[in-house]
Amino acid sequence: MDVARIREDFPVLKRIINGHPLVYLDSACMSLKPLQVIAAMREYYEQYPACAGRSIHKLGEEASNAYSAARSKIADFINTAEPEECIWTRNATESLNMVASSVKLPKGSKIVTTTLEHHSGSLPFVERARRDNLKIEIIEAKDDGTFDIEDWKSVIDTNTSLISVVHSSNVTGTVAPMKEIVEIAHDRGALVMSDDAQYAPHHPLDVQDLDVDFSAISVHKMCGPTGVGVLYGKMGLLKSMDMFLVGGDTVADVRYVDGKIVPEYLPPPEKFEAGLQNYAGAIGAGAAADYLQSIGMHNIELHERNLLSFMLKSLKELDNVTIFGTDDIHIKTGLVAFMVSTVNTAHDVAGYLSDSYGIMLRSGAHCTHPYHYQMGIPPSKGTNRASVYLYNNRKDVEAFIEGLHALIEASS
Ligand SMILES: Cc1ncc(COP(=O)(O)O)c(C=O)c1O
Repeated sequence: MDVARIREDFPVLKRIINGHPLVYLDSACMSLKPLQVIAAMREYYEQYPACAGRSIHKLGEEASNAYSAARSKIADFINTAEPEECIWTRNATESLNMVASSVKLPKGSKIVTTTLEHHSGSLPFVERARRDNLKIEIIEAKDDGTFDIEDWKSVIDTNTSLISVVHSSNVTGTVAPMKEIVEIAHDRGALVMSDDAQYAPHHPLDVQDLDVDFSAISVHKMCGPTGVGVLYGKMGLLKSMDMFLVGGDTVADVRYVDGKIVPEYLPPPEKFEAGLQNYAGAIGAGAAADYLQSIGMHNIELHERNLLSFMLKSLKELDNVTIFGTDDIHIKTGLVAFMVSTVNTAHDVAGYLSDSYGIMLRSGAHCTHPYHYQMGIPPSKGTNRASVYLYNNRKDVEAFIEGLHALIEASS
């Protein structure tokens, strides 16, 4: 993989921040965008900025073709059985809420989730349980972010209707044993909602091979535009789900009979895509999928693994740094959360590295308060997180370690 060439695709990497070349280590929050994605969106706005699926004029036809090609590209990227199993959403959070609010779950059944979830993976299901008076049980991840598979076997019972699990954690980076979890869940008749916000950008994802029932994807974390997500769902489940948002574009017909308005809804995906859509965003998402596939998800995974291994080793050599999450790089996405004991808060660390060295790191509790509480860390103190992607190189990690070392020296 030619990282020097890849870096040319990301204009922002040419920026000088506070006298230093930009070092971007916050891709787990938001990835950078390549020229190819920007160009595809620009082409839409400049050449055929029309509505897809409605207007039959030339520009409408071009927009419809590009919009539906984008859906096919995303479907291909995660290997769905048919493109119509991919619903465009605003982000992974909306995808998770869509399932939590609309999937049919039997009365009195149980939802299972974990302490490692991003709030977007747990709260929609906590609220669904509250709304319908369902039971909810929480599996506690180990401190290093791995799970004891026996916990899954004992907690998921035949009364469990759905589990929501983060495939790759945004705080420990750990990759959940999804195949085993799906097998246990399906054995007991439960559905699996996989939160792939962190997994899809960094690893090859095959939803059919994993046999997950639903998957939530965040396009802005995979070189795509902001404000776009995807919900994958098996077609039979999508068909059986209740409506989420209703209105224009969701209907085959709306009759007026005996003083009543009687809607007849379209099948998925239109069923879940009410109103005019983010066509430019979807087209950008398709371009992002093409871009990542042209480099190869296996190559990206391997490249990140090498950087992660170097970053973990270098961080371990620093005094006063506590690292969270497993250090088994084979079950870890390219990110490391850590704490510096000589500095008050994680925000102080991130502020210093940005101001003094042009290094962008995440700080806070990363929408994973339960995990932070489990580790005895007040969210107000927080942790830092450094995350790598296809455009990062060894020099980025060296600059980060040097900057952090200087901060630790100055604050000890
Ligand atoms: C694991 C995980 N799930 C869900 C989300 C929410 O993603 P989005 O911002 O696309 O709603 C994030 C975002 O950081 C995440 O890391």
